[in-house]
Amino acid sequence: MGVISSTAYNVSPLFIQPSEMREWLMDLVTHSFNTAITAADISAILGKSEHDILKSFLGGLLHDTGKLNIDHKILNANRPLTIKEKQQVSMHSTFGYLFLENIYNKDCLKDVIKIIKHHHDYDKECTDLEMIVQVADVFAALTETRPYRERFSKKEALCIIEKEISVDDSIIKALKSLCSGYHDE
Ligand SMILES: [Fe+2]
Ligand SMILES: [Fe+2]
Repeated sequence: MGVISSTAYNVSPLFIQPSEMREWLMDLVTHSFNTAITAADISAILGKSEHDILKSFLGGLLHDTGKLNIDHKILNANRPLTIKEKQQVSMHSTFGYLFLENIYNKDCLKDVIKIIKHHHDYDKECTDLEMIVQVADVFAALTETRPYRERFSKKEALCIIEKEISVDDSIIKALKSLCSGYHDE
């Protein structure tokens, strides 16, 4: 396991070898970019302000930053995770939150870092922007190939999200309207 950074921001060190960094970051950036674009599209469809569209985009882009602090061999394991490993993976929201909060502790980024912190907290207490990124994240994840499964079609992903995630109906409607514009198998 390669440790290339100290605990400068009071979170775990980075777990990655420099030689593995590029491929690992490509996968993270692809997923983060897909999440961000989908979140921004949903926000635009819902008539959110330009600032909110930008915030949902940035939240999507940065939401998994804390995964840099999780051993990528666990994240990419082609087998069921142990309970301890699952607990480690679940820490990425908090790691990302602490990392960015400590670096960019400015008012304009407070909503964005809250999106990162709450992007797996699927409950009604969440703000609109938090829910938009949650849905965009799950949609992006389901429609991307993983080492342990093939990608779902956009139609299948939409069905899964409708069944499994309870968020404001308007967000699901916005995602549906977005999907109707996609060419899909
Ligand atoms: Fe996540
Ligand atoms: Fe994610």
